This record gives sequence, C-alpha cells and structure tokens, in this order.
Amino acid sequence: MDDFSYRDGRLGCEGVDLVSLADEFGTPTYVYSRATLEGHYDRIAAAFAELNPLVCYSIKSCPNLEVCRVLVGRGAGMDAVSGGEIERAWLAGCPMDKIVYAGVGKTEPEIRAALSGGHSLLNDAAAADRGAIGWFNIESEQEFQAVAAIARELGVKAHAALRVNPDVDPKTHRYTTTGTKETKFGVDLERALAFFERFGRDEYLVLDALHIHLGSPIYSTEPYVRGVTKVLELVDKLESRGHAIKTIDLGGGFGADYETDRSPHAAEYAGAIVPLLRERVAKGTQIILEPGRTISANAGVLLTRVVYVKDGPDKRFVICDAGMQTLIRPALYEAFHFIWPAIVGPGHVPPRRAKTLDLPGLVRCDVVGPICETGDFLALERDLPPVKRGDVLAVFTAGAYGMSMASNYNSQVLPAEVLVSGGASRVIRRRQTVPELLAHER
Ligand SMILES: Cc1ncc(COP(=O)(O)O)c(C=O)c1O
Repeated sequence: MDDFSYRDGRLGCEGVDLVSLADEFGTPTYVYSRATLEGHYDRIAAAFAELNPLVCYSIKSCPNLEVCRVLVGRGAGMDAVSGGEIERAWLAGCPMDKIVYAGVGKTEPEIRAALSGGHSLLNDAAAADRGAIGWFNIESEQEFQAVAAIARELGVKAHAALRVNPDVDPKTHRYTTTGTKETKFGVDLERALAFFERFGRDEYLVLDALHIHLGSPIYSTEPYVRGVTKVLELVDKLESRGHAIKTIDLGGGFGADYETDRSPHAAEYAGAIVPLLRERVAKGTQIILEPGRTISANAGVLLTRVVYVKDGPDKRFVICDAGMQTLIRPALYEAFHFIWPAIVGPGHVPPRRAKTLDLPGLVRCDVVGPICETGDFLALERDLPPVKRGDVLAVFTAGAYGMSMASNYNSQVLPAEVLVSGGASRVIRRRQTVPELLAHER
C-alpha cells in the first residue's frame, strides 16, 4: 500500500518521523514517499509488461516537478492536460514524444507549445529544439481542425488519437465519471467512424490512434473489459475501412487504497485487460496507459495541526489548519480519507485504515478546516483518539488530487511539499508566503 507506518506510536515515512517534519517545515504540508511513488509505478509497468505499454503518468494527480522527475527517471512518459503540464513534463526531462496531451479545451498557445519548442510557454531558448509531443488526444471535430491547421502552418507533423466515449459506467462519483454519453469528453462510438472518414487522411495531424478514459477511481476490472472490448470492435470497423490504428490509449482510473486493501492490485487490472489486447500488440499495436492516482495517492500524506478543539451542543469539532483549501476531495466528492494522529498511545496504533475502527476510548468528531464554509471538512462523524491543540494529524492517501487542487481560498497560502527518500527529507516546494499571495495585486 505505502511506506507510511507507526513505530513506537509515532508515524514515520521511510523511517523519517513525521511530527519532526511538521515541526521543521510547518503545517499544512504534503509529504511524499519516493519509495511508494516508484513502487506503484513499477507495479503498473510490471503488471502490463507483456503489452510493453508506454506508461504516461497523469501529471494532474500530483504535478510537483520533483515527483515528475522521479517517475521520468523510472521510464514514465507523461499525460498532460494543459500547456502548463506540458512545460512541467519537459522540465522534468520527459522526452516530448512520450507526452500525451488530453483535455477538451486546448487553446491556440497551448497547441503551438505542444507542437514546437519555439512556442514554449516558458519563453526558454533551451526548449527551441524539443520537437512535438507524442499524441494529441482529440475531443471534438473543431479541436481536430484547430490543431491540424496550426500543425500545417508550422510545418510540423504530429499524431492524434481520437478520444471515444464508449458509454461504460465506471461506477464512481458522478463528477469523476468521464466515459458515459452525457459527459463532455470525447465523441460517441458511432460518430467515430464519420470522424475518421472526415479527418483520417490529414497530412499534418495523422489520426492513427484511439483514446478512452472511463473515469476515476474504478474499483473493478469489469468497466475496463467492457470499454476495451468496445474499442476493439471500433478498431476492426475502422481498419476494415482503411484506417490503420497504431496506438490504443486506455487512459487511467485505477484505484488506490484509501482504506487498507480497498483497491484491486495492478496485477488484477492487468489480468483482465492484457488478454484482450495480446493479439493486437503481437501485430504491432502500441498501448498507452495514463495512471495517476494509483501511483501518487498512497505516496502522500497531508500533515495538519489541530488549531482548536471545540465541543458544540451535539458534537466535537477538531479544527485544523488544513481544510478544503488544502485538500478539497472530501468537500467536493465526499471522498473518504483515513485521518489519524501522528503520535498515539499504545492502544491507538491503527491496525488498518478503515472508516471505523473498534478501538477503546475513541471520540466522535468532525475534522474541519479554517475556511468560512460549512462544507469545509476533512472528515465528518469520525472516531479518533482524543486530540488536543497543537497535535499533528495525518490525512492519508492524499498524494493524488491533493496539492494539485489546493487553492488560495480565504487568502490562505498554498502548503509546502516535502519528499522523503531513503531516510532523508527535502522541501520540493516551499510554502507560499503572504507577500507572494498578494504580489500580483499590490
Ligand atoms: C484523460 C485522463 N487520463 C488519465 C487520468 C488519470 O486518472 P487517475 O488519476 O484516476 O489514474 C485522468 C483523470 O482525470 C484523465 O482525465
């Protein structure tokens, strides 16, 4: 699951004490484990090895440059959804031809930056010769036309995958369901044939790939089986009409262990998906995967300090310095994160991470943040060991869609990020300061 565990009642990461990190770097702070990041990447790569896929880490899940660098060092490509993410991937050392670029609203400057380093959004001369990204994952007819026109103007050839919407329910939160008909993503399977007929012979934007992403997190293999099966039927139809499909991008969405053993292992997902694609890969089809959460979620915890404890008429509130501005998933998706004090007495070492634990002396409370919204909570009705002002709490499985969705709401500064690696820790993004927060307005 991950490299965060209790020893003698104190939570550590790869042997580094987390309360000491909170004391040194302040709170709220995201702490990442390099061993967990690499371990999860390696497990995905190994499980799908028979398909020899390009594993493109989904930057949006945890975009810190150093996190990207660690994964590029492992051989990962990158899945970007904006010009900013393309620049991150490049700065992290990712070869441009290992970048896939998705997103329904690509703008002209972003498209130019993706096609040519001369148009890098960093204004960095060193980018000039970097070349075009590997694939544009195309979401609409107008987008294809826009990218193709710019590619022609720049005289650059690029590859495109059509994102198709297989109308498969991934059985996850409706806000993170992306592969059903009513969402804004991709085009219907039926429309895909007409799409290839219209655009499949473009000289500059070569349409020779298909992309799906069903949603996230997906805790069973069945939606993937249905999605891939539908895509393969489409590939057959397209090829019978003369459109060669060289690459199939299966997207991301694999689960993470928000509770102990919640998610299928990489090998289970692969066990269901690999047999469907074996034959195609043997004939030369390239497979791309875009995992984010399954790599980064368990690799991070959020450390927060208890500012006050307040007993209301019906319940206890544990008021923390982290809230929806630091980790919005509970407020946005009613997502569950296991939360526990970073130092506990002998009877309170959690035997597992779960919604409820049968331990003596727990106190029911709402764990809330400092933001002026009733929806600002990290956990509701949660049984915790007694905590007091100044205690450090750990919010587990916070590496994905944590820092990447943090905001300055209520003029709170962005938290720090720390990477632990082999017993050492270092800041990989320092805490924002109030002067920085106000710099563009003064
Ligand atoms: C197109 C696409 N690919 C990959 C991902 C990564 O999903 P996950 O982090 O669940 O693996 C997302 C998530 O939103 C996505 O939209």
